Amino acid sequence: MKLKDKVAIVTGGASGIGEATVRLFASEGASVVIADRSALGEKLARELGASGFAAHYSEVDVSREDDTRRLIDDTVNRFGRLDIMVANAGIAHPSAPVEDVSVEQWQQMIDVNLTGVFLSNKLAIVQMKKQGSGGAVVNMASILGHVGMPGAASYNAAKGGVVNLTRSLGVAYAKDGIRVNAVCPGFVATPLIERASGEARARLVAAHPVGRLGQAAEVAKAVLFLASDDASFVVGTSLIVDGGYCAQ
Ligand SMILES: NC(=O)c1ccc[n+]([C@@H]2O[C@H](COP(=O)([O-])OP(=O)(O)OC[C@H]3O[C@@H](n4cnc5c(N)ncnc54)[C@H](O)[C@@H]3O)[C@@H](O)[C@H]2O)c1
Repeated sequence: MKLKDKVAIVTGGASGIGEATVRLFASEGASVVIADRSALGEKLARELGASGFAAHYSEVDVSREDDTRRLIDDTVNRFGRLDIMVANAGIAHPSAPVEDVSVEQWQQMIDVNLTGVFLSNKLAIVQMKKQGSGGAVVNMASILGHVGMPGAASYNAAKGGVVNLTRSLGVAYAKDGIRVNAVCPGFVATPLIERASGEARARLVAAHPVGRLGQAAEVAKAVLFLASDDASFVVGTSLIVDGGYCAQ
C-alpha cells in the first residue's frame, strides 16, 4: 500500500497507460480521480467503486484551463486534498512529413500534449502549495521527447517540451517538497498505437531490443515509483522505460 491515504488525479485515466495507472494506484491505497474526456472513464470509476476502491470520474479537456481548475476543485471537494498529479492525457497524429502538417494540426498537438501538461502541473502545484505538505507530479513524456522520429515533428516538439518543463518545475518546487518528474515510455500496446498498420507495427517492435512493445502496466509501475515516497530523492528527471530503444 505505497499510496495509502493519498489522493491522486490521473489525466487520460480512461484508457491505456492512464487506465493501468489508475488501477495500480487504487490497488496501492490511493483515492483516484480519473480525468478524461472519454465516457470510458465513468465506466472504470463505476467498476472500481463496485470493488470497494475510491474512484471518481471527472470529465475534462486538459487543454482548457477552466476544465482543469474545475477538476482540482472537484477533487478537493470530494477527497479533501490533492497529493499526486499524473499528467498523462495525450494524443498522436498519423505519421506525416512536416511539409504536410497544418498549423491547426500542430496547434492541436501542442494544446493537448504540452499546454495540457502545463495547466495540470500549474494548477496542481497551486493546490499542493496551499496544503503545505508537498506532493508529487508525474508527467507522461515519451522517448520521442529525447530522440527524433521522421513524421512526428509536432509530437517530438510537444514531448521534448514536457521533458524540459519537468526539469524546470522540478528545480523550482523542490524546496516546497513537490517533486516533479516524468516517464518516457517506448512504444506501448495501447489504443493510441493500435491504429498503426501491421507493417508499421512490425517496424516498431523491431526497434525495441527486447523484441516487443511495452505493456501499459509496465509503465504504470514506473509512474507509481515516481509518485511514491520510494522516489523521495528523485527530482526533475525523465525516467526512460523503453525496452532498450534509446540505448542503441
Ligand atoms: N502508447 C505509446 O506507445 C506511448 C508511448 C510514449 C508515450 N505515450 C504517452 O502516454 C500517454 C497515454 O497514451 P496511451 O498510449 O495510454 O493512449 P490512449 O489513447 O490509450 O489514452 C489516452 C487517454 O487520454 C485521453 N485524452 C486525450 N486527449 C484528452 C484531452 N484533451 N483531455 C482529456 N483527456 C484526453 C483519451 O480520451 C484517452 O483516454 C500519452 O501522453 C502518450 O503520448 C504513449
